[in-house]
Amino acid sequence: MATEVFRSAVPLTVNGERRSPVVDHRSTLLDVLREQLDLTGAKKGCDHGQCGACTVLVDGRRANSCLLLAVACEGCQITTVEGLRGADGEAPHPLQRAFVERDAFQCGYCTPGQLCSAVGMLAETAAGHPSHVTEPGAKTPVALDRDEIRERLSGNLCRCGAYPHIVEAVEDVIR
Ligand code: FES
Ligand code: FES
Repeated sequence: MATEVFRSAVPLTVNGERRSPVVDHRSTLLDVLREQLDLTGAKKGCDHGQCGACTVLVDGRRANSCLLLAVACEGCQITTVEGLRGADGEAPHPLQRAFVERDAFQCGYCTPGQLCSAVGMLAETAAGHPSHVTEPGAKTPVALDRDEIRERLSGNLCRCGAYPHIVEAVEDVIR
């Protein structure tokens, strides 16, 4: 069939499971996760890389899945909000518990992206990555004060304005 040149099986590990969806080469990772793999946690907000609702972890680093072609993720380890686990391997992740306890959402549309972003942000900070507000020469890993948390999560927008409680939830987990 002529259209088959536009489709390939793409081996991925998604939330610890090996998957090999046959994807259209023009499909984004977000669309493949939601429409082919039935993982609807990651949300389509802007579809332009501007809101962070689609954030997932790709090989442990946060990424806007609306900007990634699925075919470019061959062999990658993808973690969506459905796959978040604590250090003991059990769900929910401590950040998910903290979000519930702090009431860090209203409509919840941005929440899966906020959670994946926060998990990725904690790992990036632990690995010594500076942010835009980190003082040059600051000791690493940088202490995550409110300014650091806000800056490092600034790629994730919340139309409901749940930001204060999101920051408090992250603070609960790092204490
Ligand atoms: S849907 Fe991907 S950044 Fe908005
Ligand atoms: S909780 Fe509604 S968009 Fe963030």
